[in-house]
This record gives sequence, C-alpha cells and structure tokens, in this order.
Amino acid sequence: MATLPPLFLPLILFLSFNSSLAALLNLNVLSFGAKPDGTTDSTNAFLSAWTRACASTNPATIYVPKGRFLLRSVNFRGKCNNNAISFRIDGTLVAPVDYRIIGKADNWISFQYVDGVSIYGGKLDAKGTGLWACKNSGKACPSGATTLSFSNSKNVVVDRLTSLNSQMFHIVINGCHNVKMQGVTVIASGNSPNTDGIHVQLSSGVTILNSNIQTGDDCISIGPGATNLWIEKITCGPGHGISIGSLGKDQNEAGVQNVTVKTAKFMGTQNGVRIKSWARPSSGFARNIVFQHIVMKNVENPIVIDQNYCPGNNNCPDQVSGVKVSNVRYQDIHGTSATQVAVKFDCSAKHPCSGIRLEEVKLTYKNEVAEASCKHAAGTISGVVQPTSCL
Ligand SMILES: *[C@@H]1O[C@H](CO)[C@@H](O)[C@H](O)[C@H]1NC(C)=O
Repeated sequence: MATLPPLFLPLILFLSFNSSLAALLNLNVLSFGAKPDGTTDSTNAFLSAWTRACASTNPATIYVPKGRFLLRSVNFRGKCNNNAISFRIDGTLVAPVDYRIIGKADNWISFQYVDGVSIYGGKLDAKGTGLWACKNSGKACPSGATTLSFSNSKNVVVDRLTSLNSQMFHIVINGCHNVKMQGVTVIASGNSPNTDGIHVQLSSGVTILNSNIQTGDDCISIGPGATNLWIEKITCGPGHGISIGSLGKDQNEAGVQNVTVKTAKFMGTQNGVRIKSWARPSSGFARNIVFQHIVMKNVENPIVIDQNYCPGNNNCPDQVSGVKVSNVRYQDIHGTSATQVAVKFDCSAKHPCSGIRLEEVKLTYKNEVAEASCKHAAGTISGVVQPTSCL
C-alpha cells in the first residue's frame, strides 16, 4: 500500500464510497408497481422486490409504506446472496375477500430456506371471517391458509407485527433455528376455528417475547421437535392457552425438550399451561419444561397434562400414550379457575409422568381452594401449594 501511486487514491475512495451506497439497498414496493389501494393485486410487485433483495450481495431492505396492499399467496424463497434482508412495513397486507383464493394453499405469506430475514412492523389482515363462517356452517370448505410461515430457515426476527383474522394458524415456525419474535399482536375472534396464534415445531432456539395473543385456538402451540424454546411476557385470551402438543400423533416422533414459559397471563382461556398427547404408542416425549410466574384469570383448566387427548371424543385411539412426560416445573402460579379442578395430571399408565414439581401454586375456584386430580403422576411439592397436591 505504501508504494501505491497517488493516482489510485481517488479510485479507492470512489470504490469504497460506492460499496457503502450498495450496502443501503432500499427497495420500495411502490417502485415495483405495488398499489396501496387495497384492491390492486400487488403480489408480483412484492415478489419482484424480493427477487432483487435476494439477488443482492449486500444487505437489503424492502419498504412497504402506509396503505393497504392486496396479496394472494406469496412465497419468499431462498437461498439468497446475502443474509440480511429486512421488511420494514408501515402498511397493511390484505388477503382477497374471497377466502377460496388463498384458502386452498397451506400458507398466505411464507418464507422458505432463508437465512437472516427480519420483519419490522406491519399488519397482516387475512380476512378469515368468511372461511370461519363456512366452517361453522358445516359446509365443505377449504382448510385455510396459515397467515405467516417460516420453514427450513434460520436467524429470523419478527418484531411488532400484527396478525388479524387468520384463516388457520396465524404464525408457524417449522424446521427453523434461531428465531426471535417480539411485540407480536394476534387478534381473532374467540370462536374462530383452528386460529392458533404462534405454532412452533421441529425448531430450536425460538424466543417469543412481549406478545399479546387473542384468538380462537391455542395462544402458542408447541409441536414435536421443539427444543430450547423461550416464551416470556405473554398475555393470552381469549383462546385455548399455551399448549405443548398435541404430541404422540405418530409412532415415530421427535420429542419436545427445554421449554420455558415465564411471566404469562391467561384471561378467560380454556386452558392455562397444558401438555397434551394422544393415547397411542409413540416415541415422543416432553421433558425439562418450566412454567413460572403465571397469573390465571377465570381459566377453565389452569394446569393440565392430558395424555388422553381427543377433542370432540371422535375416533379416539383409546390406547395408552407412549409419550413420556418428565421434569415439569410449575412455579409461582396463582389466580382463579373457572372450574373446580384447577390442576389435572392425567398421565400415561405405560410411562407415568415423573419429576413434576409444584412450587408456590395457589389457585381458587369461586373464592375457595380449588381441587387437584392425578393419574399416574409422581413428583414433589415445595412452599404453599393449593389445591393440595395429589402427586
Ligand atoms: C435451554 O434453552 C435456552 C434457550 O431457551 C438455552 O439458553 C439453554 O442453553 C438451553 N439449555 C440446555 C441445557 O440446552
């Protein structure tokens, strides 16, 4: 460098200036033809912006300004040439009013094989009410699309996103590693079918913080193969609560391991913290689970392990669950139950629940101490535990 002729200096300065400009690749969907009018189909504009961002060797931002952008099912696919693509969304993405248009696809907005994608802000309005009405009428209807799905991806951030009225699940994380979600808001009616808030499966290192989930099914559902999952500062309700499972649907199934649910509030939900498995043989398991600092307000089943899970009692397998549940700690859980039995451990006769720990649990029903019921469950208690433990 010391011997470089002075002639080259401006060139070097020019090149480095140029590459720092390129590092700020900013793509506004309007310049790809998207229209913020809520009625013009902007799917291809979003896809074109994605293609540019994904091809860039520098970090890229896709900017979605205020307004409503109509999107059909859209798949943002990697692998990309950079690992820092951000969506900054000030507007709302809306699905077509006719639920059949996205209703047959698995997903409305999906990311696959991406590394380093972040979404900041934005509202996703899937317009699910038409499909719910169809389902509730007993007619034949499409099963519906998940609103936002990440699969086979890593290093994902979802920050301050709002999901409204999904057809099926709101957000699904499947086959991913290192996902951070925070400040997420989910809103759907308490009687909307299958509208789970956030579903995580076959994924590790997923964190969900500071989120508020009001929906018709599980607030957060944790499927087979979820490991190292951290859930903190969550408000749930209406809905079915936070659920590990259902597990044991298949004979060969990955287990759930190392899940922490800390500082959560359940308001009028069907369940609080639940572990559920089908009553049939399976290699699945759930272990090293912590539920702590939890408030229940008028929750039907605040603490429940149900290894005879069979919603609607239709075609129940009626065998014994092969799923082994162990090392589950319930610490500092208090509030009110909407039914008399506030703690229910209905475990597998083949693989009884073991290592259940209850510490500082206080749940009441109609201003009196509630009840507990146990089958095939063993463990320890410490501190004040009401209802009286049946372990
Ligand atoms: C459990 O998961 C957390 C993240 O939620 C992680 O920090 C911790 O190292 C994991 N523990 C084990 C033993 O794997």
